[in-house]
Amino acid sequence: MSATARKKAPNAEDIRSQKGGEPLVSLTAYTTPMARLMDAHCDFVLVGDSVGMVLHGLTSTLGVTMEMMVLHGQAVARGLDKAMMVIDMPFGSYEHDPAQAFRNAARLMAETGAGAVKLEGGIEMAETIRFLVKRGIPVMAHIGLTPQSINTLGGYKVQGRDEQAEAVLADAHAVAEAGAFSVVLEKVPQGLANRITSEIAIPTIGIGASAGCDGQILVVDDMLGFFTAFKPKFVKRYADLGPLAEAAIAEYAAEVRARSFPADEHVFADAAPAKGLKT
Ligand code: KIV
Repeated sequence: MSATARKKAPNAEDIRSQKGGEPLVSLTAYTTPMARLMDAHCDFVLVGDSVGMVLHGLTSTLGVTMEMMVLHGQAVARGLDKAMMVIDMPFGSYEHDPAQAFRNAARLMAETGAGAVKLEGGIEMAETIRFLVKRGIPVMAHIGLTPQSINTLGGYKVQGRDEQAEAVLADAHAVAEAGAFSVVLEKVPQGLANRITSEIAIPTIGIGASAGCDGQILVVDDMLGFFTAFKPKFVKRYADLGPLAEAAIAEYAAEVRARSFPADEHVFADAAPAKGLKT
């Protein structure tokens, strides 16, 4: 069933059951208006920790806090009706041990209404994923390029080429066996993404991976052309709204300086309008 025809928001098990079916559609969102625009078109919406770079001007996701995720999660929840909401666990909120992960995941879900959390990591996070799932917290895993680990990965490089492939494959199997209901594959070579998709029992969500994945996700500000600091190869710009917005702002500035805005239709008459007339 397509997202537009659905009556109620799917849950993690609905997403899991779409393995091998119609591709899952997802975007990130951080605000109510953007969530409203995508609600009818997405199966799930991710409140990504990319919010730190996209909306807060940070140079990586490492500075994103629980408070930022709660605030943006609450805003996105107000804009969603049909799509499921998944929320990222920020750097430092889950890696120490499963109990820390549970405390923070439970807070994110309770305070935002998200239906699941996403966390980064493969084999090393399997125990935590198992712990959370057994305690009622659906987990979406995220392997391949995990931006919270850029300092140990040495940058935003493709993950899983050549002899690295077996390690990424092992991560995929580990998170699936630990109980994750789906897994994001970021910047993983196409052939490997296809192999993972065919070998594991949960949906793979690609970002810079393969059209053969069970679903796709993009950062909304990337695909709309609002985020212009850099453009990864895997981003397709479906619109170029950043330059459009800037042109509109420049026109406004020029009109204010020329006193041509506000015009007559934007101001109010001194005398009250006759009944029935709106001015
Ligand atoms: O934070 C984010 O936006 C993400 C997506 C890129 C998958 O994790």
